[in-house]
Amino acid sequence: MPLITLGIESSCDETGLALYQMGRGLLAHALHTQVAMHSEYGGVVPELASRDHVRRVIPLLRQVMHEADVSLAQIDAIAYTQGPGLGGALLVGASIANALAYALDLPAIGIHHLEGHLLSPLLSDPAPEFPFVALLVSGGHTQLMRVDGVGQYTLLGETLDDAAGEAFDKSAKLLGLGYPGGPALAKLAASGRGGQFKLPRPMLHSGDLDFSFSGLKTAVLTLVKQNDSYEQTRADIACATQEAIIDVLAHKARAALAQTGLSQLVVAGGVGANSLLRERLNQDIGKRGGKVFYPDLEFCTDNGAMIAFAGALRLAQQQCNKDYRFNVKPRWNLAEITGAIQQPVA
Ligand code: KG4
Ligand code: ZN
Repeated sequence: MPLITLGIESSCDETGLALYQMGRGLLAHALHTQVAMHSEYGGVVPELASRDHVRRVIPLLRQVMHEADVSLAQIDAIAYTQGPGLGGALLVGASIANALAYALDLPAIGIHHLEGHLLSPLLSDPAPEFPFVALLVSGGHTQLMRVDGVGQYTLLGETLDDAAGEAFDKSAKLLGLGYPGGPALAKLAASGRGGQFKLPRPMLHSGDLDFSFSGLKTAVLTLVKQNDSYEQTRADIACATQEAIIDVLAHKARAALAQTGLSQLVVAGGVGANSLLRERLNQDIGKRGGKVFYPDLEFCTDNGAMIAFAGALRLAQQQCNKDYRFNVKPRWNLAEITGAIQQPVA
């Protein structure tokens, strides 16, 4: 029987559970998002997030087992997000995963959240093949990686300050939009007119693959202050903001393909759900003979499926053990994980 891996994601404001079986694929997945709970506060409240994960994990586990018709005895390994993320939130998934693994005498596998995102497009059909360039764009990270295989990640460039998702979220806040800001800003931008406002494209011509988005937020603040707050004006500003962020991401993604000589781009993380970004990348990279891969929309933002999948790949490489002394890593550089290699300084 091909091995079945349970995945538990609890790094931020989503509780995700999933069962993945090598050879068969995803058997079931379930997600509870805390967006409604945190929206009252305009952002994630860590203590509330942890408490909610505690409430959700077991019912969601029962749900995926029921949907997949899999019993605890049939599970072969338990993967959980070990970091990076909110310490308390990570501890919920990590302690439940390790307790269950100990009780069932199974390996517990700590997964790097970004590795989950990075590998998530492999869950889709058609899937990219190694090697590829990954554009990782989430609420906390903006990185370009060369991916040669599981655990073979070379950092090509990253943001020096705010992440792309953060740029969406902070600009959305300045425009009076709720949390999470990315989807809200994209929605408002849809009724905006292009070309009404000009915003900077930070580091567009820096000659490297790094990003910087904090100046953009300041420029958006200036625009908001200088203009009226009519719906149309706000939509025009939202449109210009989205354009600027996408422009930089598309430009650098293209440059990463050129620099590595690779033709496949994989986009992962919450901002990858942005439809204009998808359109733009497909166009830009398709024109140059490349191909862009995305996770299915539901696996762009945080989810348990990517953790179960990454766990299954680690299990297949026998990178797991039955030592249940666990810790969580709220800050954790992807380059530190086994087999990861940092690009030598040119
Ligand atoms: O990967 P993710 O779910 O969580 C992190 O690990 O950070 O990414 C969340 C980020 C947030 O900043 C959110 O505003 C952004 O992804 N996001 C979007 C869209 N959907 C989510 N940004 C732009 N357009 C979207 N449609
Ligand atoms: Zn994430």
